[in-house]
Amino acid sequence: MTQSLEGRTGIILGVANKRSIAWACASALAKQGMRLCFTYMGERLKSKVEDLAAECPGSIVLECDVTKPEHIDACFEHLKEEFGFLDTVVHAVAFAKREELEGDFYHTSKEGYMIAHEVSVYSLTAIARRALPLMEGREGSIITLSYIGGERVIPNYNVMGIAKAALEASVRYLANDLGPKGIRVNAISAGPIRTLSASGVSGFSQMLDELAAKAPLRRNVTQEEVGDTCLFLSGPGSRGITGTTIFVDAGYHIMGV
Ligand SMILES: NC(=O)c1ccc[n+]([C@@H]2O[C@H](COP(=O)([O-])OP(=O)(O)OC[C@H]3O[C@@H](n4cnc5c(N)ncnc54)[C@H](O)[C@@H]3O)[C@@H](O)[C@H]2O)c1
Repeated sequence: MTQSLEGRTGIILGVANKRSIAWACASALAKQGMRLCFTYMGERLKSKVEDLAAECPGSIVLECDVTKPEHIDACFEHLKEEFGFLDTVVHAVAFAKREELEGDFYHTSKEGYMIAHEVSVYSLTAIARRALPLMEGREGSIITLSYIGGERVIPNYNVMGIAKAALEASVRYLANDLGPKGIRVNAISAGPIRTLSASGVSGFSQMLDELAAKAPLRRNVTQEEVGDTCLFLSGPGSRGITGTTIFVDAGYHIMGV
């Protein structure tokens, strides 16, 4: 049930380059006619994101470092002026210091723990709160990105696993808060995909090999497959789904050994 998203609007947080899962989500939504606002973090990524956004007609590009409340406020003020309303939020933002993504989890520093949670978890709630007035009553959809490391132990994923567990719990609490206002909140738990962030996880290639060897579909997943699930979660086909985590991992999560 793919329906035109003409006349609908969305905000995409987390495009760094063409490999970003956020870009695959944006492409899928833009192809169905959704008008998009892209955000970027830091001047270094600005022109890259602007180049990609140029491929999506009618889109705008704004700066938003999710650790800066003033950026989030300015971003949603701008969005209100440009779009007036909002139907979809794609939150594909995460960060942990490289040294926290290797070795034993018990070495996690307090600072590393706080940064990972501020960027990767709290930001979803901060964004949802700002988005709410623009989304209310429009049967909107908020989508975030998780990983199985939030449910099971994945070596080296460490503090990011704890952050993903908190992110998935946030999805459930937000879904309960926002459901009466007609807004759905879901997570996509994606299999490992080569992206800029993924390159920071020690042993990432082994994670790819492990999944391709053991998953029922015997292969890895692509950004496009995640983008298509994002499209589904944005549209009317998923109107009865909220508070859940959908795996796009070639079935890997069902396996015991
Ligand atoms: N790649 C994978 O294997 C995989 C698997 C499952 C889930 N995920 C999740 O998908 C999401 C997107 O990651 P990706 O793999 O596409 O990598 P990516 O590096 O392309 O995207 C991560 C984005 O987070 C942004 N970001 C980091 N700190 C930020 C901040 N303070 N403010 C605003 N933006 C900030 C970066 O600029 C970047 O655009 C993340 O939540 C990640 O954990 C990735």
